[in-house]
Amino acid sequence: MPYTKRLHVLAPLLLISCLLIPVPGFAQQQESANCLACHSSMKGRIKTVSGTVIELQVSAEKFAGSVHAALACTDCHMKYTDNPHSSPAGAVPQQVLAIASKISAKHPVDPVAAAACTKCHPDVYAKVLDSVHGRNITDRRQTDGALCLDCHGSAHYIVPVKNPQAKMSRKHQVETCGTCHGDKKIIEKYKLEENVMDSFQESFHGRKLHLGHTKVPVCASCHGAHDIKSKNDPTSPVFGNNRLQTCGKCHKGANEKFIPAITHKRPGPIPHYAEKGLMLLVIGVFAFIISHVLLEAFSDIRDAIFKKGREE
Ligand code: HEC
Ligand code: HEC
Ligand code: HEC
Ligand code: HEC
Ligand code: HEC
Ligand code: HEC
Ligand code: HEC
Repeated sequence: MPYTKRLHVLAPLLLISCLLIPVPGFAQQQESANCLACHSSMKGRIKTVSGTVIELQVSAEKFAGSVHAALACTDCHMKYTDNPHSSPAGAVPQQVLAIASKISAKHPVDPVAAAACTKCHPDVYAKVLDSVHGRNITDRRQTDGALCLDCHGSAHYIVPVKNPQAKMSRKHQVETCGTCHGDKKIIEKYKLEENVMDSFQESFHGRKLHLGHTKVPVCASCHGAHDIKSKNDPTSPVFGNNRLQTCGKCHKGANEKFIPAITHKRPGPIPHYAEKGLMLLVIGVFAFIISHVLLEAFSDIRDAIFKKGREE
């Protein structure tokens, strides 16, 4: 066979073998495609047996644009198979099951999926469970504390925090924390300071952020992200003199006089009276000057009249 002819035969073979070389993530994408065959075309919400309303549609396009695009649906939904999800697939690791049982009230649809993050983000998960938010769910058995999806949004569409569209980006973080910290029901239930959102917006930092300043702190810059603690917890970055370090990250040489300069507290009664006092002082000084001018004018007139009288 002449050389060129052989190439004709080989070229397509080469091409086909290239396509068959296993590309990392290819098997996963195939599996996801099976799930997406139903879930990207289904529309609307339904109520599950557990009584939670779920959104059936998962957008294939948005999932492909997320940080988890290379994952199979079953990397998180470990108990699901695609026919549709009748038999439990593969064994669920013990460490995932342990977390799933603690958060099942918060994530009744598929607690295993919500716990699965720990397979790949174990340190982050441990911190969150130990935070004031995690303990609200695990120790206090409430469902109000923030878990992964409350801060990062739907598990299917997570983008890097640096992306301005991310819920924890500088652009959206304040409003995301505000969905709970500006919520009257949560504030009353946990006796939290009602003022944190307003006082942040009105602070020097908040106003600069609003103007597009890129270095001023957002909530997590002072409180941390995954290990948020109560302000009364000595390990909180906003507890007492820990603020020397917290403010000091950006304000070199921050000292004990500087750190109380920004809090969420309402201005107390002292500045209020100081302001009133200043007003009184200003009014007093003006009254004094005006009366002084008037008296002087009066004495000038009186002198003029008396002088006139003496000259005549
Ligand atoms: C043949 C269509 C079909 C396929 C394929 C399919 N699903 Fe579903 N899925 C459904 C329907 C219908 C529901 C609505 C509730 C139900 O029947 O369980 C649902 C509900 C769900 C729920 C909500 C919780 C629940 O159990 O109701 C999850 C999570 C889910 N599917 C994940 C997956 C995953 C992961 C795959 C791939 C491994 C997949 N599905 C494949 C049709 C399908
Ligand atoms: C990174 C982990 C992860 C991946 C990957 C993932 N999911 Fe999910 N999914 C979750 C979590 C967590 C929930 C919420 C479960 C809960 O609240 O109980 C969820 C919920 C759902 C629901 C119910 C919707 C709702 O409103 O609660 C469906 C349907 C679903 N997933 C389908 C899929 C399909 C299809 C894929 C693959 C394209 C997929 N998931 C990939 C983590 C994941
Ligand atoms: C109270 C809000 C909040 C909760 C809850 C939360 N995160 Fe985050 N997460 C953030 C913020 C803010 C950042 C950005 C941190 C930074 O820039 O230093 C972040 C960053 C990340 C990162 C990338 C950087 C890093 O630290 O590794 C990962 C991964 C992550 N989160 C995963 C998770 C997982 C998994 C959970 C649930 C176990 C979770 N997050 C719960 C707010 C939160
Ligand atoms: C099978 C492994 C795996 C699982 C399970 C998983 N992730 Fe991830 N996650 C990753 C990888 C890989 C990245 C991309 C890291 C990178 O690009 O640096 C990522 C990125 C992230 C980021 C973005 C961090 C950033 O760069 O800002 C967040 C947030 C995150 N994951 C949260 C979650 C949450 C919440 C869950 C559970 C619902 C979860 N992950 C489950 C592997 C996983
Ligand atoms: C410049 C640093 C800083 C920033 C930015 C900041 N905080 Fe705070 N935060 C503090 C300090 C300090 C305290 C301790 C209480 C005080 O002195 O007001 C606190 C206390 C709190 C408390 C407890 C309030 C109570 O008394 O119950 C909450 C909740 C809170 N912050 C949420 C937020 C949220 C949400 C944001 C973003 C909108 C935010 N913080 C931004 C420094 C900050
Ligand atoms: C899903 C709702 C939710 C979201 C989102 C949320 N939190 Fe919270 N947060 C709570 C609840 C509820 C508590 C009180 C928990 C308790 O005391 O058991 C709390 C407590 C706190 C505390 C401790 C208050 C104290 O007692 O001193 C701080 C600080 C805080 N959150 C900051 C933040 C920051 C910063 C963000 C955003 C990065 C955020 N939270 C997002 C619900 C939320
Ligand atoms: C993430 C960085 C960051 C953190 C953390 C931070 N600040 Fe700031 N702060 C800034 C920036 C940036 C400005 C604006 C500087 C400018 O534009 O002049 C500012 C301005 C201020 C101002 C007004 C101007 C000035 O310099 O006097 C005060 C007061 C202030 N911060 C107090 C605090 C206190 C108190 C803390 C800790 C509770 C704190 N800051 C934490 C970055 C930060």
